[in-house]
This record gives sequence, structure tokens and C-alpha cells, in this order.
Amino acid sequence: MIGHPFYAVEPWSLRETEIDLDVLGQSESVFALGNGHIGWRGNLDEGEPHGLPGAYLNGVYESRPLPYAEAGYGDPEAGQTVINVTNGKVIRLLVDDAPFDLRYGRVLDHERVLDFRTGLLERRVTWESPMGKRVKVHSSRLVSLVQRSVAAICYEVEAVDTELWVVLQSELVANEALPDGAADPRVAAVLKAPLVPEENSSRTAGGLLVHRTAVSGLRIAAAMDHHIQAPPSLNETVESFEDLARYTVTAVLKPGERLRLIKYVTYGWSQVRSEPAVRAQVEGALAGAVRTGWEGLVDQQRTYLDDFWARADVEVEGDAEIQQAVRFALFHVLQAGARAEHRAIPAKGLTGTGYDGHAFWDTETFVLPMLTYIVPQAAGDALRWRYDTLPLAKERARQLGLKGAAFPWRTITGAECSGYWPAGTAAFHIDADIAAAAVRYVGATGDTDFEKTIGLELLIQTARLWRSLGHHDGQGRFRIDGVTGPDEYSAIADNNVYTNLMAQHNLVSAATVAERYSDRALESGVDAEEVASWRDAAAAMYIPYDDVLGVHPQAEGFTSHEMWDFAGTPPEKYPLLLHFPYFDLYRKQVVKQADLVLAMALRGEAFTDEQKSRNFAYYEALTVRDSSLSACTQAVMAAEVGHLQLAGDYLAEAALMDLDDLQHNTRDGLHVASLAGTWVALVAGLAGMREHEGTLSFKPRLPSGITRLAVNLSLHASRLRVEITANTVTYQLQDGSSLRILHHDEPIDVTADTPITRPIARIPPAPPLHQPPGRAPLRRDAPQ
Ligand code: BGC
Repeated sequence: MIGHPFYAVEPWSLRETEIDLDVLGQSESVFALGNGHIGWRGNLDEGEPHGLPGAYLNGVYESRPLPYAEAGYGDPEAGQTVINVTNGKVIRLLVDDAPFDLRYGRVLDHERVLDFRTGLLERRVTWESPMGKRVKVHSSRLVSLVQRSVAAICYEVEAVDTELWVVLQSELVANEALPDGAADPRVAAVLKAPLVPEENSSRTAGGLLVHRTAVSGLRIAAAMDHHIQAPPSLNETVESFEDLARYTVTAVLKPGERLRLIKYVTYGWSQVRSEPAVRAQVEGALAGAVRTGWEGLVDQQRTYLDDFWARADVEVEGDAEIQQAVRFALFHVLQAGARAEHRAIPAKGLTGTGYDGHAFWDTETFVLPMLTYIVPQAAGDALRWRYDTLPLAKERARQLGLKGAAFPWRTITGAECSGYWPAGTAAFHIDADIAAAAVRYVGATGDTDFEKTIGLELLIQTARLWRSLGHHDGQGRFRIDGVTGPDEYSAIADNNVYTNLMAQHNLVSAATVAERYSDRALESGVDAEEVASWRDAAAAMYIPYDDVLGVHPQAEGFTSHEMWDFAGTPPEKYPLLLHFPYFDLYRKQVVKQADLVLAMALRGEAFTDEQKSRNFAYYEALTVRDSSLSACTQAVMAAEVGHLQLAGDYLAEAALMDLDDLQHNTRDGLHVASLAGTWVALVAGLAGMREHEGTLSFKPRLPSGITRLAVNLSLHASRLRVEITANTVTYQLQDGSSLRILHHDEPIDVTADTPITRPIARIPPAPPLHQPPGRAPLRRDAPQ
């Protein structure tokens, strides 16, 4: 686990001042750079030692068979696994004869800094070789947010006190050896040597490798070029082999003299383009990068990020760690989605191979609520990716005997990759999650072009799925039986409240939008009768309730199940999924992650205040948070029902998930949903923001550790700043035309003229709650 001593608490950066090779894997994830198209883990420049070497291209995967002991009809036959593509980060250094390798010699000082405003990962190290020769190395790395195919490194080496020979070998490396995967299902299947060589070449100061994946048939090209500034005694060579292109430069450095190397790397891939075309693509991008130059790329990155922070920054006063963590989160979620452009935003972004690089409902339910209000274009692009996968989702629905589209539980291309029905395709709620994200996006942006094309079609196909999956029973209720809700410690249940409420919203939204664009809807075969059937199903949607306990069962019958033996479950038996059989988890009351509580956060209007308080207390006692997707939702509802300190505790858990490696698997990649969840916990939790039919409402409330919170939101063409202190909130229009919002249910028009300040309504303190023994979040009473 990474302890905070390694990371200085700073508002705009993540600084590591000591290197601990035991936690290298985790640090590679937190120092990862990406733009949604390219992902580079924060591996050391010299390639070794490493926790997990990683360079990824969004959408590049290899197919692998999914074997079953007992195959069933409709089981997917092939899985997809993200692969480590050609590594363009490697710059090896020889100091006289000794390879620069932190496992040998002495590290005299070390620092790595990820700067959220420049977007650069910088590293400074002074190293003494086993022969006593000292060098200073300073490298800066970026993955361009502006030039999508481009990454670059500026590498400097300086002789400290004696004259030295230095040799730099800058490489493109394909098919790197990877450490073996663990037995943990959250880790990726490791594919050895997935890249089949097609072409390699080298020329002055540059090189190129083209490969193809054997089964999925994707062509991948990587190219590099270099620019050096050095003392005269310089010698350069280039060479290339099937899996390696190398540029070597040697120089003699006098004490205080420096060799500076700029490395430009570009990537391209395609399923259909020919080898010359993909090659031309990376060479063209390379010409653009070289022409821009290192300083130019750095300037572009800064300008892009200045604009981003002006729109998206969240200021937190009173808790410096949370301030840092939320900017870390904003930066990484931006990196995951900024330039994904019709590709998925995977659960780990492009920071590691965890969950095989798959995208889940994490995107629509956790990441898009944040992106929609700060980088709406990226949210729209993520939904366009879902839309592009509709043919596969329709085919899947047909295979299952259903109508409309059945979106995959986990995927890279849109094809279902879950071989486990109960916690896979049975989690049909993903359809409603996608529909809700499309509705939210349109509400926030007013993008009617999107609504009448992509939005409409997504809503139609998902509504059809619900209409065919559920049925009206003899009592006039519309039931959705045999599905899995968000909580993966229950499966194949009837009338999961979250699923039914989200499906209801899906059906009503589809009906509304189909009526708004009835001609277009008709082109997809939607007539008045079909729309009426959606409305009927929504109106009759069955929401079970336990009258005896006075709470909603998560799914029908849930509250009659036997209680899990929490008292008899020691801390080392968590996460439960690695220590107990699913059959036992499924038949008892134990909750992996917010499910009914998430329903209350997203469909709050379906519950009374009293139900919310009672339900929240009931599920707190059952929820073990074995998923990183839980804490942020619990923060939102804790704040709403008046447990402000608890909300602060859950906020901190979501925020520090990766910085403190709370799930012990950050090495496999960042928890992107929890990073976005940090924003959700602050904005939906502490600022109490909800959205209803395009109108934002706020019910702000701060826990005692946070003295001021300011958030910036984009809504239609306007920008709204909400600044909250202990007693007041100020709404201010930064840009654009006036906005109508609700403050504690009071309508307010925020205009360009003056900021509006209102008092914050006090919430009566709520009675204490209990979590399962040993599973309470860490207290955040006295932040440092
Ligand atoms: C959670 C899912 C989530 C997946 C990927 C699982 O542990 O239970 O809800 O989608 O991780 O983050």
C-alpha cells in the first residue's frame, strides 16, 4: 500500500520524494499519462525495474477464447484483453560501462512530479554508479492532449563531478516480457507476445515498427524521431529489428556538461487500413510533432489545461489532502476521456490492464456525470461510442430472445466479454444507465442534434429491451425478474429496485423523446402504440417495499434472507469475493456496493425523506464496500440524510482510493469510477446538486473539516460557479446567458449582473449509524 509519506500534499501536483521499488507498480499507475487514445504508465525511462510495463492504445486488444466447464447457450465464445503495445518510453542510459539501474549503485536523490497544470511528468534523480560515477538525470514526459497521436520526452543527463562517457539508447520495444497475472479475477489475463511483426525500419535519428495482432487482426504502428543538443564528441546510430527500433547516441561529458535528447513518439492503429496507410499516418503525425517541437508541445499542453481548469476546477479549503486528491481525480478522468473520440472509457482508463481493459457501467454512471458538466464534448463522444456499438447490442438482444439492444456488461469493442451470466449480462441495468447518461447529457448541453439522432436511437433500443425483458403480472404490476442489480453480492433477483427505477426512467424518457421526434422515431418503427406500451410499463413498474421493516428491499425478498455473519468475518477475509463462494454471498444479506442507496441518489424523487433515512441506515449496516464504486455514492446519500461527517469520511475514501491504494490493486490501474466519484461526492454530496429535466438544484452542506468548497459547472452555453462556506452559498454566472436553478427548492435566476448569496438551511443531526464490524470508513475528523 502506498502511504502518504511518499506523496507531498500539494494543491496542484503529485510529488514523490523517495523511490520504493516495492510499490513501483502503484506509482506507475498514479503517474500514468494519457489522452484517452494513448496511455503510458509511469514506468521509469530506463524500462527496468518495473511493476508492470504499459503502453496502451484505446481500442487495441487481442481476442482470446473464453473456455467454459459447462457451456450454455448464449455464452460469449471469445473474450477481449487490452494488450501492451509498442513501448515508446524507453531511454536507456550507460554511464561509462554501467547501465543506469536503480537496483544498483546509489540513488542520492529522487523526485517525480506529476503537475496537473502543465500535464508533465517530471523526474529528477542523482545517481552514483557502482563505479562511483555520478550523473544527474532530468526527464519530462507528456502525452499530448492536443495532438492525439503524439507523446514526447525531454531527457537530460549531466556529469556531476568527473568526465564521463554516456550512451543513450532510445527505443521502441514490442512484445515486452510481462509479469505473470495473479489469480485475482480483477487482474487481466496476460497474453505473451501478442504482436506479430510486419515491418521495421530506421533512418537518421528515427525508427518505425509495424505489428499486427494475430487473432483480432489490428494493425499497430509506432514511430519515433529525435533531436539532440550535446557537446561535440557525439556519435549517433540507428538500427531496427522485428520487435525493436533503437537510436543510440554517445557523448563525453565534462563535469557540469549536459546531453539533452528530445524524443517524439507517435502511434496509430487500424482494423482496416493497409500497412502503407497506417505507416503514413504515424509518419505524418511525427512530422507534425517535430514541427511543433518540444517547447511547442509543452505550450499546447499548458494552454489546453489552463482552459480545462478554468472550466472544471474544484476548490476545497480546510482539507489539503482532499484538495490535492480532487485535482488528481479531475486530471486523470480528463486523461481517460479527453480524446477517446468514439472509443470506450475503460474502468482503468488507459493506466493498466486491470479488468482486461474493459469498459463497464462505470462510464455512464460514475464518469459521465462528471464529464457532462465539465468536458461535455468528451461525455458526448463516450455516448457516441455506445451508439456505434448498437449493432452488436441488438444482435446480443436477439441472441437472448429479447427486443431492442442488450449492451454488454464488459467490453472493449461492444461485444459481450463477460463469461459469467450472474454478474455479467444479467446486470441489464447497464441499458438504463446508458439511457440516463444520454438524457443527462442532453439536459446539460441542450444538444438537440445529439438528442434527435443518437439519443433517440439509444432510448428506443433500450426501452424495447425493458419492454421485452419485463412483463405485466396478474396484479397489473410490471415486473423485471431474474436480473442482477449493481450489488454483485446478490444475483438473478426479481424486481431489483435500482433496475426497476432506472428502467422506468428509461421508458418514460424514451416515450417523451420519441413523441418529440415522432417522424424520426417512426423511421425506427416506433408508433403511438409502442410508445403507449412504454408508458404503461413505466406507470405500472413494481417497486417492492417491506412494510414490516419499513424499508425497501434491494430486490424482492432480499430483507427475508439470512444475515451475513459479519461478526464472524475477520478483516483478512475481505474482499469477500476472494474468500467465500458466490452461492453463499448470493443467498444472504450482505451488500458489496451501493445498490438501493444508488437508486436513492439517482432517482431521489421516488422516495420520501423518511424512506431515504431509514433505507440508508438499513443498508449501511450491510454494505462492505468491496467495490471501489461504493464510497462515493454513500457519501452522496450520507450528506442528503444528514450524516455530514460520514459523508466526509466516504468522500475521503473515494478520493484516496488510489493515492492510498485502499483496494491494494492500484498497480493494475487507477479506479476511474472512484476518481470521478470524488467529484460526485463533492458536487452531488456536499453541494447537494441534482438534475431534473435539465434544471440543476442545490442543497449545500459542508462537514466540519471543509470550510469552503467552490465548483465550476458548464450548463448549456453558460458557466456557473457555486461557492459554499459553512453558512452561505453564492451562485455566480461566469459566462453565458442567465440560468434558472433551485436553491433548497427555491427557484433562483442567476444572471450576469450580480452573484446571488443565500443562507444554507441547517440539517438536524441524524442519529448514529453502524457499518458492519471493521468496515466503517476511516474517520476524517481532523484532516492534516
Ligand atoms: C464492481 C462493478 C464494476 C467493476 C469494474 C466490480 O468490482 O462490482 O460494479 O463495474 O468492478 O469497476
